[in-house]
Amino acid sequence: MKKDYIKSLKSKIGKKNAALGIIGLGYVGLPLALAFAKKGFRVTGIDVDKDRVRKIKRGISYITDVSNDELKKILKRERFETTTNFKMIRKMDAVIICVPTPMGKNKEPDISYIREAVTNVKNNIRKGQIIVLESTTYPGTTREILLPELESTGLKEGKDFYLAFSPERIDPANKIYKTENTPKIIGGISRKSTQIAKFLYDRAIKEVIPVSSADAAEMVKLLENTFRIVNIALVNEIATLCNKFSLDTWEIIDAAKSKPYGFMPFYPGPGCGGHCIPVDPLYLSWKAKEHGFDTKFINLASQVNESMPQYVIERLDGILAAHNKTLNKSKILVLGVAYKKNVKDLRESPAIDIIRILERRGVGVSFYDPLFPFLKINGINLKRTPFTGSFLKSQDAVIIATDHTGLDYKFLAGHSSIILDTRGILRKIPDIKRAKSKGRIFNL
Ligand SMILES: NC(=O)c1ccc[n+]([C@@H]2O[C@H](COP(=O)([O-])OP(=O)(O)OC[C@H]3O[C@@H](n4cnc5c(N)ncnc54)[C@H](O)[C@@H]3O)[C@@H](O)[C@H]2O)c1
Repeated sequence: MKKDYIKSLKSKIGKKNAALGIIGLGYVGLPLALAFAKKGFRVTGIDVDKDRVRKIKRGISYITDVSNDELKKILKRERFETTTNFKMIRKMDAVIICVPTPMGKNKEPDISYIREAVTNVKNNIRKGQIIVLESTTYPGTTREILLPELESTGLKEGKDFYLAFSPERIDPANKIYKTENTPKIIGGISRKSTQIAKFLYDRAIKEVIPVSSADAAEMVKLLENTFRIVNIALVNEIATLCNKFSLDTWEIIDAAKSKPYGFMPFYPGPGCGGHCIPVDPLYLSWKAKEHGFDTKFINLASQVNESMPQYVIERLDGILAAHNKTLNKSKILVLGVAYKKNVKDLRESPAIDIIRILERRGVGVSFYDPLFPFLKINGINLKRTPFTGSFLKSQDAVIIATDHTGLDYKFLAGHSSIILDTRGILRKIPDIKRAKSKGRIFNL
């Protein structure tokens, strides 16, 4: 008699008896593991990083959005364990892959982490499992890479095991939208896979939206991030133009967003950082080339955003010159080095590019960021400076590259000579009297 795995899997998931394995315990995997564990599932987190696994066991979180208290609470309920042993996959009913998808040296997709994770799944797969890929990648990855690899075991998708793609949409440090209340897209290789994957995620996520295929689910994520990279580039270009017109970009955006339809505010900055926005659309460009298609918008947006750190330097150069100072002989403090406020993550951070350009020009550059005591990256080796009045006064200019909350911006404005605010944070601080600061505080 043919075994109906869908029925037994559904029954296990419905009763929360299903064992869930999460491969990759980073910004995406760890919160996802906790979301399922909180709902009563037994979750096993599998990671190649022994140190991360050890830390979690001790209740120490390395992810900004996960507190030690929250982690310890879950560990106490014995719903979550971590391991580096991939043989545990065999004991799982559902396996979700959340490994990194960076760019290679020539801006080509580096899917080696996905391949490694899938090989480990293949070596431990058994009948009746649902496998879901969450890592952001180009359309076709699940069907072209995962499916043949897993079927090389002789098992058949949609019959012996189920395979789907569900893009992660996590927004680190977002206080409102977390893993549980951000709607989730699901696309299976087969209809049965979509059905069972939706059933699984429905247990932990508020809203799950099925689409027609894994390719469609992969494309949804890339549309979302392409939309962001293009609009960020557009507003960065508008900011450089506003500067030429002596207009305040933030004033223009704030007024434009009063329109109740047809406009969505995006804000300028020193570039576009993080693991997603500057990287994911390039996955799409790469795949488009296979079809002889040139993604003009993505290419132009990347170019505009990548030029922003250089623009910041040129802008500062001009401001210093107007104050009879030379950039090369100046002492510059870069305030905030994370790619985004309140996130302890340096990936693709434009602040790093700004520091690199300044160092290359022989400028005396220092940095302050409450989240990083040291900066050791891409040839940069700096120790955080103190955030004191005397240090601020000793600097010719400060570039606010990241607008972390909780920093005393009033103190900063009161003790610095020139400030180039690339994030528009100072205009939000009521205590900083614009009149007093006039001639010292500059927008991008
Ligand atoms: N961070 C975000 O804001 C975000 C948002 C949406 C989507 N994503 C996507 O989610 C995926 C994961 O991103 P992240 O930010 O969580 O990455 P991360 O670097 O924070 O975490 C990845 C984890 O995977 C582990 N790992 C690497 N190779 C492994 C392997 N072969 N087997 C097991 N574990 C392995 C690493 O040790 C690390 O702990 C990426 O594709 C990313 O583009 C990230």
